[in-house]
Amino acid sequence: MCGIVGYVGGGSAKEMILSGLKSLEYRGYDSAGIALIRKGKLLVRKESGKLKALEAKVGGPEFDGPIGIGHTRWATHGAPTRENAHPHQSGDGRIAIVHNGIIENFMELREELTRENEIRFVSETDSEVIAHLISLYYDGDLFDAVRSASRRMRGAYAVAALAESEPDRIIAIRKDAPLIAGVCAEGGLIASDIPALLKYTKDVYFIENNEIVVVTRGGVQIFDEEKTRMNRTRTHIDWDVTAAEKGGYEHFMRKEIFEQPAGIRETLRRRIDDSGHIALDDLEFTKEELDGLERIYIIACGTALHAGLIGKALIEKYARIPCEADLSSEFRYRDPIVNERTLCICISQSGETTDTLEGLREAKRKGAKILSIVNVVGSSVARASDHVFYTWAGPEIAVASTKAYTTQLTSLYLIAMYMGLLRGTTDEAACGRLLGELAEAPAMVEEVLKNEERFIGLAKEHYKKEKIFYVGRGLDVVTAQEASLKLKEITYINSFAIAAGELKHGTIALITKDVLFFALATQAALYEKMISNIEEMKARKAQVVAIAKAGAGRIGEVADDAFFIPECSDEIAPLVSIVPFHLISYHIAKLRGREIDQPRNLAKSVTVE
Ligand code: F6R
Repeated sequence: MCGIVGYVGGGSAKEMILSGLKSLEYRGYDSAGIALIRKGKLLVRKESGKLKALEAKVGGPEFDGPIGIGHTRWATHGAPTRENAHPHQSGDGRIAIVHNGIIENFMELREELTRENEIRFVSETDSEVIAHLISLYYDGDLFDAVRSASRRMRGAYAVAALAESEPDRIIAIRKDAPLIAGVCAEGGLIASDIPALLKYTKDVYFIENNEIVVVTRGGVQIFDEEKTRMNRTRTHIDWDVTAAEKGGYEHFMRKEIFEQPAGIRETLRRRIDDSGHIALDDLEFTKEELDGLERIYIIACGTALHAGLIGKALIEKYARIPCEADLSSEFRYRDPIVNERTLCICISQSGETTDTLEGLREAKRKGAKILSIVNVVGSSVARASDHVFYTWAGPEIAVASTKAYTTQLTSLYLIAMYMGLLRGTTDEAACGRLLGELAEAPAMVEEVLKNEERFIGLAKEHYKKEKIFYVGRGLDVVTAQEASLKLKEITYINSFAIAAGELKHGTIALITKDVLFFALATQAALYEKMISNIEEMKARKAQVVAIAKAGAGRIGEVADDAFFIPECSDEIAPLVSIVPFHLISYHIAKLRGREIDQPRNLAKSVTVE
């Protein structure tokens, strides 16, 4: 959840680190710090709170140098205090480290270091043990000390270390936490995430588990555990710097909501060839392979799982292969029936979510082939997969996922149709119709976005409500779940989503006049049923706002209010009908004065279990 940045070179390490950490603010953090080597002295400054507090502490030229590491911390072990902030130092102050992840055996190590080496700990964190361990093994070679220390650590980590007596290099290591390195005109760089490096380079090395990186002014060198130098090619990142900036928008979330038409268009453009056919040949599926599949599992978390739930319906409909969508965190522990006749589709915006990565590994161990749908090029999920389908949403910075979701859905339409065509379970005409509609989807989303004033009005009317529930039937149940998640995470309003037919089996007891329902009714065959459900809610005095397709008829009279998305097929509806909820949640959060891009307790990529 935390951010790491490091720099060695001819420029100002402080400037690079602060700029890098700023671009990682979206990850969520509650303290920050920097360690630098200046004129042979290791200097550390850290502060609780936001980067501004740290900036105030490192203002003058006396705190700068050609080499440094920085960190933004999101508190897990220990409160967000200055003591618990990174960098952590060895007792003699000559080693400093920053760490992402969790050291699972830190209590054991802490006790041992206290008992046998009389080390006095100054923080409550798991990370501090790393600084002391490295110092214990330090014999004039930071590389060897980091390597030895890592052998004692269990858990997940990306660590960058500095030694006062080696003012020309940073040593970093990773295991199950993201770490990338790059080279710019003036030196070598390291970071936990791509946006931190974008301003300096777009060509990065993805560091693999247990690899050690040496960052110097001359560049970066990567070694395996045995100290063998690895020959790596760099990956070019196609994002531009401005894509990771707010560009005049008040919040990243609103910017990203408005970027959805472009994201859908780009995801389609990359996968539809000049003759209008779906081009997924690089995934290298054969008809025999698909015919031989017993089942497909889609695994993902949160919003990505909601995309997966729609994907399940599409794959079953078009490719006629039994498909289950499961939470990664449940899948990995429930001994799922997986073998070589299983395809596991992992969906992840960041490609770094630990639950999904571990679920992927579990499926792989059992013999499944892995197809991942990922937004971040070269991320851990992508690298661990047999086939990768990249979404082209561009960097998603706001914690609440919007454009990643609609591009994930777009990818799933294409994958389901592609599989169906290859297997012969669907025909060109049916796919042609859906593809034609997909091509129209960006314009439909644009149409919805034009109604922002209407959603602001709805937000003004309802932002003080304490209970907002979402209902639907068929694919609308998933949209209801995603809409409810969006509301919860950025407004903190109590909310859930339920299949409308399930209300009467218990939940109906919660309905009072204080409840607001958003009722989705975009699925033609279930439209009349939804009208009855809305009547049920109205009879119990709840307020109901309906979302239906243009031309849907009397729903506007049954509900208190209704918004109509452009006319489209039932299958395409989820791609369009989620967008009003993005804007409604955003404006409710704004009216409630919430930290929209970085809601409390949340981080952008969840690299802990
Ligand atoms: C919600 C949200 C989360 C993520 C989830 C998975 O708005 O962003 O629910 O969808 O943590 O993250 P990724 O897709 O990075 O694996």
